[in-house]
Amino acid sequence: MNRPIEIAPSILPADFSRLGEECVELEKAGADRIHWDVMDGVFVPNITVGPDIVKSLHSHLTIGFEAHLMVVRPDEIAPLYVAAGCTTVMVHVEACTHLHRSLGNIRDLGARSGVVLNPHTAASSVRHVLDQTDHILVMTVNPGFGGQDYIPLLDKIAELKTMIDSGGHDIDIEIDGGISAATIGECAAAGANVFVSGSALFAYDDRAAGVAELRSIAEEART
Ligand code: DX5
Ligand code: ZN
Repeated sequence: MNRPIEIAPSILPADFSRLGEECVELEKAGADRIHWDVMDGVFVPNITVGPDIVKSLHSHLTIGFEAHLMVVRPDEIAPLYVAAGCTTVMVHVEACTHLHRSLGNIRDLGARSGVVLNPHTAASSVRHVLDQTDHILVMTVNPGFGGQDYIPLLDKIAELKTMIDSGGHDIDIEIDGGISAATIGECAAAGANVFVSGSALFAYDDRAAGVAELRSIAEEART
């Protein structure tokens, strides 16, 4: 059974001098969740938003929030973003010494647990944590910046989908990086159902049309 197609815009390309208005626009455009790219300047060579900023935005919006933690201390940072209002919190395989425990801790905080794989990280790295996982995020760029070239990883997506389905797991596969009208279809056909889009979505004059186009291409690709 197909899981619903969801569009989760990244805030990275937003005009940060108008971050609140940009988030309201994304909500009005019909996005399913806002994807907060959290960067600590160590795990990736960039620094973005802290939990207080996310919390202040959350109080003005009804749309859901998810946090993509690109940080070297995910166990300490994850609770801050749950408290800020993120209902899905995703940690990198590459940053977790005890990944099974890290994911369980996120669930214990009442959020959905997500695990993120960099382009070089094998699907098999999450084989033994699927029982602790609600969401798998497949990076199709090297993390740290928006607007990078898409890295096709269709075999990895298909491998994850097979692992999930054969184990009877209830897990979303999300794709993050270079997702546009040109790339979303093949990822959906390979088995993904949630899509982060930053620069491509923000390039649309009409964001609602952008969300609708991305969603319909993904849905078409699965039929
Ligand atoms: C990169 C972030 C992505 C990125 C997506 O480290 O995790 O969410 O902002 O932006 P685009 O869609 O422009 O690749
Ligand atoms: Zn991201």
